[in-house]
Amino acid sequence: MKTILVPGGAGYIGSHTVLDLIKKGFNPIIVDDFSNSNKKVITILEDLSGTKISFYELDVKNKEGLRKIFSENKIDAVINFAGFKAVGESVEKPLMYYENNLFGMITLLEMMKEFNVKNIVFSSSATVYGISDKVPFVETDPMGEVTNPYGRTKVIIENILMDLAKSDKTWNIIALRYFNPLGAHESGRIGEDPNGIPNNLSPYITQVAVGKLEKLHIFGNDYNTTDGTCIRDFIHVNDLAAGHSAALNYLFNNKNLGFEAINLGSEKGYSVLEILHNFEKAVGKEIPYIIDARRAGDIAVCYADASKAKKLLNWEAKYTIEDMCRDSWNWQKKNPNGFKN
Ligand code: WQD
Repeated sequence: MKTILVPGGAGYIGSHTVLDLIKKGFNPIIVDDFSNSNKKVITILEDLSGTKISFYELDVKNKEGLRKIFSENKIDAVINFAGFKAVGESVEKPLMYYENNLFGMITLLEMMKEFNVKNIVFSSSATVYGISDKVPFVETDPMGEVTNPYGRTKVIIENILMDLAKSDKTWNIIALRYFNPLGAHESGRIGEDPNGIPNNLSPYITQVAVGKLEKLHIFGNDYNTTDGTCIRDFIHVNDLAAGHSAALNYLFNNKNLGFEAINLGSEKGYSVLEILHNFEKAVGKEIPYIIDARRAGDIAVCYADASKAKKLLNWEAKYTIEDMCRDSWNWQKKNPNGFKN
């Protein structure tokens, strides 16, 4: 059985991936400092999987702590979810983002090198395509002009990983470029639990629906799209999770891969208003909104070409937009305050 170190495994995408890894016969070890996640998640994951899960409470920038984990366990691969991800916060606190996301990744890579663990999957983002109007986004497109420090950490890390792969051919590295994650585990016991007022569309909508926020502010309806609101590629978090297990299988079955960037998206674009209306169906009532000014840095249309994931990983998105809205709502209504009860 392959042992997979999962920094950030208690977070939104990490926790769903841990469940998928167990289902697919991997042995995950979670490393999390719970700075943006909750300790309860570990027990819930054990409950949902019926398995005891090993975990270490540690900041991945702690080199000595990581060294201990690598010496105590025979690790076959790493999936790194440990990173800050709030776009607005990254604009206000760029040093905090560069320090955490870059040092965290570099420390992990140093330890992997020391222990000769050369298989890694990294959480990247469609944000690396930057401001571009050429859709769908394909991996052969150049990385673009990114408008915030969060996105820039993703671009910088992808570049670090490419340099590393060039310097030593025994590395096997996959950067998964996520489009817009939505949904939650069908149990409604784990899901997205943002700190404070959400930046992202879906937790904002579900918090309006549950009565915590008054109304959705739609950032612009004068884009060149069917209804004037922006279009995004939404992907169920369970599909994303399955993409990681598929990426690991690919790493283990192909030696000396070097670096590969792979999109994980549904290839379908839905407008902000369409998402809102799908949520209204799931919730069974109208969700109030107003049209506001455009948000700086938003592009009009973003969706994936996911043919590389299909070809290399034999992966494709299975969940529909109805499934995603139903599952996000199920999580929110069962946990109006997220993990903080
Ligand atoms: C989607 C659409 C908004 C909130 C970002 C990051 C990306 C990834 C996911 C995160 C846009 C509109 C939103 C609201 C709105 N990383 N919107 N009112 O910007 O596509 O992607 O989040 O961890 O890297 O860049 O996602 O959910 O913020 O916005 O009208 O209150 O919804 O303008 O068109 P985005 P989003």
